[in-house]
Amino acid sequence: PSVEAAAPASVGTLEALRDEVLGCRACPLWEPATQAVFGEGPADARAMVVGEQPGDQEDLHGRPFVGPAGQLFNRALAEVGIDRGTLYITNAVKHFKFTPRGKRRLHERPSAQEQAACRPWLEAELARVRPRFVLCLGATAARAVLGPGFRLMEHRGRWQPMGEGVQALATVHPSWLLRLPAGEREAAWPAFVADLAHLRDAME
Ligand code: URA
Repeated sequence: PSVEAAAPASVGTLEALRDEVLGCRACPLWEPATQAVFGEGPADARAMVVGEQPGDQEDLHGRPFVGPAGQLFNRALAEVGIDRGTLYITNAVKHFKFTPRGKRRLHERPSAQEQAACRPWLEAELARVRPRFVLCLGATAARAVLGPGFRLMEHRGRWQPMGEGVQALATVHPSWLLRLPAGEREAAWPAFVADLAHLRDAME
């Protein structure tokens, strides 16, 4: 199956971009997915959050971060006092990639080609929302935003310049926290919250 880069119209509103993304056929992920999941939040948000790709629940509801990872993220936002409604929340890849396993659909990581095909959509969202701060959840998001050489565990929790006064901060993905055994998750939680506190402080 062919993979080409998505080609957003160079100017236009976020709503027009959303319509383009919903019709995207640039890589094969659209076909088994229920729908593309576009970003949500204020078009003039000061901060943008970038995840990896929609999961099962996001694919069904058409909204980012509404499943278990989203709930954990919401809990961390509440703990640091960030109102989710002030954030523009999106993903590096807009369609859910999965392997069917019985009645379940198991998340699969998007290939480098699929990530590259989707990247113009993220760039177009950045160009329209023009956030001052970008929070990357996980290595896939961090590499989409900060480049393929970005090392999450070396640079997590520290602001990185993206040019034009925009700064990005990367932290671990809430799904990674969910996969840890309970004791390790508890141990990893304060560092995750501390990373989000940097975003809160920057937004104040
Ligand atoms: N994980 C992501 O990276 N994004 C979502 O929207 C949901 C889960």
